[in-house]
Formats: sequence, structure tokens, C-alpha cells
Amino acid sequence: MASYIGSATSRVDGRAKVTGEARYAGEFNVPGLVHGYVVESTIPKGRIARIDTSGALAVAGVIDVLTHQNRPPMADKDDAYKDEVAPEKGSPYRPLYDDSIHFSGQPLALVLAEDWETARVAASLVRVEYQKEPHVTDLHAQRDKAFAIDAPAKPRGDAEKSFAAAAVRHEAEYYIPTEYHNPMELFASTAIWDGGELTVYDKTQGVQNVQKYLCGVFDMKPDEVRVMSPYMGGGFGAGLRPQYQVVLAVLGARALKRPVRVMLTRAQMYALGHRPASIERLALGANSGGTLDAMTHEAIAVTSQFEEFARNDTGWGNLLYKSATAKFGHQLVKLDVPTSCDMRAPGAATGVYALECAMDELAIALKIDPMQLRLQCYSDRDQGEDLLYTSKQLRECYRQGAAAFGWDKRKVEPRSMRDGSELVGWGMATGVWEALQMPATVRIVLTANGHAEVATAASDIGTGTYTIMAQVAADMLGLPIDNISVKLGDSTLPQCPVEGGSWIASSVCNAIANTARAVRGDLLKLAKAMKDSPLADAGVDEVALTDGKIVSTRDTNRAVSIASAMQSDNAERITREETNKVAEDKSHARNVHSAIFAEVKVDEELGVIRVTRVVNAVAAGRILNLKTAHSQMMGGVVWGIGMALHEETLFDHRFGRVMNANIAEYHVPVNADIHDIDVIFVEEPDEIVNPLGIKGLGEIGIVGVAAAIANAVYHATGKRVRDLPITLDKVVQFD
Ligand code: MOS
Repeated sequence: MASYIGSATSRVDGRAKVTGEARYAGEFNVPGLVHGYVVESTIPKGRIARIDTSGALAVAGVIDVLTHQNRPPMADKDDAYKDEVAPEKGSPYRPLYDDSIHFSGQPLALVLAEDWETARVAASLVRVEYQKEPHVTDLHAQRDKAFAIDAPAKPRGDAEKSFAAAAVRHEAEYYIPTEYHNPMELFASTAIWDGGELTVYDKTQGVQNVQKYLCGVFDMKPDEVRVMSPYMGGGFGAGLRPQYQVVLAVLGARALKRPVRVMLTRAQMYALGHRPASIERLALGANSGGTLDAMTHEAIAVTSQFEEFARNDTGWGNLLYKSATAKFGHQLVKLDVPTSCDMRAPGAATGVYALECAMDELAIALKIDPMQLRLQCYSDRDQGEDLLYTSKQLRECYRQGAAAFGWDKRKVEPRSMRDGSELVGWGMATGVWEALQMPATVRIVLTANGHAEVATAASDIGTGTYTIMAQVAADMLGLPIDNISVKLGDSTLPQCPVEGGSWIASSVCNAIANTARAVRGDLLKLAKAMKDSPLADAGVDEVALTDGKIVSTRDTNRAVSIASAMQSDNAERITREETNKVAEDKSHARNVHSAIFAEVKVDEELGVIRVTRVVNAVAAGRILNLKTAHSQMMGGVVWGIGMALHEETLFDHRFGRVMNANIAEYHVPVNADIHDIDVIFVEEPDEIVNPLGIKGLGEIGIVGVAAAIANAVYHATGKRVRDLPITLDKVVQFD
């Protein structure tokens, strides 16, 4: 009887966002607010020999300048700085802690002034003398220093031997440069400290993560720190870990005993975490009929000198393609840069790009249609763990995606399709991601006037969490969606993990279901106690809440209105809090899948590439909201186009600095780069993955898109570009 779940409901927070009523971390104005501006290191490695703040302090309106020498106390143990997303190995970075410099752009001082402009101009007057040390920022130059970490998947058989003996082989290296999240909203924190309690408005994907972190760093008790992030202008993983500006804002507030806001500039955000550059080696061996004998995937990725960040780049082939043998490896190279971090589909965006280009190249070597090769190698099991899937409608993704795209009209030979002066290329790829659930608790307060408040400490990073929660609660409580208010982004709300990993939809919605069931039980108890109750014999799972009534599912004539049940006991409100059941059951693999088909048109003389059509067919369990889901997938495709053709962080390795720390020169797709994007949701009922069959859509949209485009560029031009982005200079010299 679901009426909201699955519908194309508009965002419940849409009006608040477009009218400016929704406030972001840098918009909470409090009387006496002080503005902080960050002074950054211009060198990547060494020490501060001397820091002279006198020039800044002489500026009218400057209140103080904090450095490692005069900052308020902060913790001196690594553990205090470990947030829930911190890499296991290493020492988290401590802003303004001491005189050591670990990366270019590191904050060295915080200028505190009555207004932001004053703080900014004064920051330019802080003089730093450095004691420089030799630095390294070039992955390629340092690859011989790579060291192995645990691979995400175990080897199967002797892949090297099988590869050597295979009838058809493809072996190549692919490269993905450092990429930045570039969320529209700048990182900002507003900290208010009255000497006792600390309240922080922060741009974060995890208010409770930041709350615990601040308790550690500043040795405060949980009930002394409250962190809020009601709205976010994009996160993409950049806001999973506490970023340094939140520490600076709190240091400022503690030093001055006044509220302090620190907002980073776009350029300063290029000294935060990023998608690590990686070199991905694939070696695929097949028999002449096109089934895999050997699959090797080895990644070398960047981390900082002080933490070991790594994600699963290499294990995805185990999920997608049957292979008699397999080998996986992951190595890290430490560079003098900030620690890399999660960025939409971390590991998969990069690893699957390489895998899916390699499969295309193998198909060409085998003279088999690339989709046919994928179908021939299709795996119904996760070979790494030898598990069946809770559901896997990837075959249907291929079928429906290919049909919508017109794949059967593809001519096999490269450079064989044209549109006037443009070469036309068609490419395809597979996408895969995880379908996880994490423990989350949801509180529902149902009031006698038929209104319900649904609350948890999740953040809505722009994905539509407010909306899907309202939909699910409305259906489960039998109320119109306008009677539901959702509260998020406050660390004092019931426990919720960081908004990441595509796990929030499944986690919080299943928690809503459990809490709604508890509310239903309370209502039924009230209804049963009523005189001549028509529900006297009903159990909690024999009634539903529908249209403001408690209704017997066996006989819908037997019903009691929620209002009268509550009035009968003078109950003003029913409050319940429940957690989703996260299955301990390890008997199935849990994944989402997609098939992406891309058309490019390449100007033969200039090499200009346009992505004229993309079809992305995704199987991700139950789709809660067709509208927000469609937007999420479309956004993923747009980002995949950026990954394929535009995005690249350029370093001047002599200085260890990012050269294009702005969105003018760090290219991202603009409207003119985006043409037809067709999103197909393949039906995928799943009763195993979790009770509501939700798999999550946060990350799958980007996975495989860059590979489909790279494969299309090869098909158009006959030129295989393996290092991203595929810029026109790399394709214009056709061989
Ligand atoms: Mo996502 S990279 O887990 O925010």
C-alpha cells in the first residue's frame, strides 16, 4: 500500500533551499562573531623557523593571530585525533599543533578579526620563515618506493602462470590523476563557546563523528559539545572526516571566548583530502573463445607521509567476471601531500575504470563484442568470498541499457562511424558498488494532532535524505507527507553513522520501519483498551497505519482512528526510538550494479570530444524516490564525464604545490558539456539485503562511466588513451 515510497516526490527541503531559509555552516550569524582567515604554508615540507604576526596584529580590526606558539591547549595523543573514518595506520594531522610542515597549503596561522575582509588582508601580512626539507609529490617519480599493503581480495590459483599460457592476453597500465571533490559549498565552521558548552555549526557528513573528534582534541565531555550540520552544499566524501577548519574555529573561540567562524576559500580546499592518484595495472588472459583464465589487478595509489589511506581498487573483477585464476595487489606511495580520502565510490571509480577499459581492450583482441565478452564472463558469485548475491540484475542492466542505446547498431571497427566532420564512437562498461547497512537509530514522535517528527543524526549532503525519510515515515505511519517533519544534522539526535558509503538510505529507512512498528504497537495497545474495540484481537503485525487510522489488515472495516486512540488515554504524544537490524549473515554478497553505454563525437582535426549520449542502466534494489534517484544517477554520470575528459590536479613538483587550485583551471563539466543522459532503473526485488530491499544509490552513478567514455573514444578514433583525463592533445595525433 506504499503510496510515497517509489514515487517521484519532490524534495521536502526544496523550498527551504531555494528561498535561502536553509542555512549552511557559514551562515549561522551570532552576535559578536569573529572571522578567521587561514595563513597557509607555501612549502610542502620542513619547519617553521620563525613566524612574525606583528604586521597582521597592527591592522585595525584584527583581534589576535593564533599560531602553534600561542594557541589554546589541544590533545597530544594520536588517539584523540582519530575520527571514525580515519585510516587505521598513521597519525592524523593536527592543525596548528607544532612547527612541522607536512604539505603545501597546511594552515600555519589563523588571523582573527572583526570581519572577514580584514582577516584576509591581515593574513597576507603574516611573515613566515621556513626551514625547508626535500619533498616528493610525484607518484611516477616515486613508484619504486611503493610498499605493499593487504590486498582487498585473496589470490585464486596461479594467475601469472595462467596468464603466460593464455591464448589471448591483454596487459596495460592505466592512470587516474589526483581529483578534488569541489563541493559547491565551501568548508566552514562556526564555533560558539561560552566557557562551558561548545556549539559548532560545521560542514560535515557526520555530526557525531565531528562531535566525538572535538571531544578528543579538546578533552571535553560528550554533553559539552554539540555539532550541527542541517544542510550541506555537497560532500562527496570531502566531509566524512573532520576537516581542519573546525579545529581552527574552536581554537579561535576558546582563545577569544567569542564565537568564531572559519571559512576556507576554494583554493584552500585544495589542501584537503582528495581522490588519490593511482596507477592501475591489469593483466587479463583468455582462451580464444573469450572466457577468462587469468585476471590480475594491481594498484599503486598515493597517500600522505603520515597516514595510510587505501580503498578497494582491485577486488571488483572478482564480483563481475568469472576467471579461473586471479591475483590482486595494492601498494601505496607516500608523498608530501594531505592524506587522500574517500571521494564518491572510492576505489571503484578508479579501479573499475581500469578494469573496464582492460575488458574492452581484451574484447578487441578477441574480436568479440565488448558486451558479449562481459556476458560470457558474467559471474553469478562473488568469487573472492564464494558467495551468491542477495540479488544481481546486471544481465538486465546490459539488456535494457543496450536496447535503449541501440547497441546492436554498432559497427565493430574503430573509426567506422561518422557524423559529418566528427568521428562517432560507442563504448560501454560495467559499474559495481556495495550495498551496505550500518546501525542507525531513528526517533519518531507522533503527536495527537496527527503530526510526526522523525529524527536521526544523519546529514543530508544533498542526496535527498530528508525526502526519502519523510516518504518512508509517511507510508509507515499512514500520514500525509506534509504531516511529517524530518530532523537531521544535529549530534544530539539519535545515533547515526557518517553519511557515506551509500548506506544511509538502507540504514535509516529500515530504522524508520522498526520505529514505526513500535509506534504502531503503542497505538494498537491504546486502541485495544478502548470500549468495544474492533481491534481487540489484533496483533501488531495484523494492523497497518493508513489514512490516519489503525486498520486491521484482515478486515479493513475494523479500524480505529489514531486520534481517537490517543485521546482515549489522553496521550499527547508517542515517542519511540529503534535501530535497524544490521544482518550478521555473511552468506551473501551485497552489491549494486550498472551498465553504461556512451556515445562520443570527436572532431577529427581538432580532437575535441563531446559526450553526446549516455545510457546508465542501474539495478540497485528498491528505488525510494524516482526523482531524487534519477538526479543522483545523472550527477554520477556528469561526474564520470568530468573524470573521463576534464578533471586533473596539476602539480608543480619543484615546489610541491597544486597549480590549478581553482575551478577555472581545474576543469569540471559545464552545462555545454552535457547532452543526453538516460537513466534506467532495472527492477530488482531483494528480500535478503535488508527488510525494505534498499541498496543505496549514492556512489554507483559514477562507477564505470569514465571507462565507457574512454572505450567510446577508442572506438571513434582508434586511439587508446589510458591516462585520464582524455584531453584533445592525447587524441589529436591519430596513428
Ligand atoms: Mo562517500 S565517498 O562515502 O561520501
